[in-house]
Amino acid sequence: MKFIIDDANVEAIKNLYEYFPVEGVTTNPSILAKSKRPPYEVLGEIREFIGKDADLHVQVVSKCAEDMVTEAEEMLKRLGENTYIKVPTTREGLKAMKLLSSKGVKITATAIYTPMQAFLAAKAGSSYAAPYVNRIDNLGADGIETVKKIHDIFQNNGLKTEVLAASFKNSQQVLELCAYGIGAATIAPDVIEGLIKNDAVTAAVGAFTKDFEGLCGEGKTMK
Ligand code: E4P
Repeated sequence: MKFIIDDANVEAIKNLYEYFPVEGVTTNPSILAKSKRPPYEVLGEIREFIGKDADLHVQVVSKCAEDMVTEAEEMLKRLGENTYIKVPTTREGLKAMKLLSSKGVKITATAIYTPMQAFLAAKAGSSYAAPYVNRIDNLGADGIETVKKIHDIFQNNGLKTEVLAASFKNSQQVLELCAYGIGAATIAPDVIEGLIKNDAVTAAVGAFTKDFEGLCGEGKTMK
């Protein structure tokens, strides 16, 4: 499973890249709004930091398919060809996906709440389909089962589209999809930090340090 950062805070992205095996960044209009900065300014900084070969996912906001295509062209011009154009999986979005995929543009179908949306997005040429685990749970449905079903639909129909699971609130959700073999997950910084937090591990490492310092002296290591 590829881990992608779901955020637009450049400092947070830099910090996570230093410590975690992450590959790429996704944003959406709400995430960009939180930065309170001009979108292309912050996206340009993210692109510069992650490099031209890394995956950056950026969402269109236009209402009609033709305008989504124009937006996508501008994004690719400014942010480079490894930019995945996130297109909401609506009726207009499907049309935009067909138009963009026919031009070879890489697409991440987003705002996916149902397996049928994902199937249609895959057929329309999307590289990724992003189902929203936590938001689906909040509707009283089962986010994890929805993602698994989408994965199975892609496999059973010979579709090359990858699942990019999104909208996580905890480590357990990520782990369950990781165990199922889901291709990618986009995860907010606080949830990524939670993947390695464990009081038992902290206590075990603390005890090792205490014992060693008891033997060799405070601050001593094997250096
Ligand atoms: C990704 O494509 C989505 O924009 C994002 O993961 C949604 O996450 P949220 O439900 O935490 O806002």
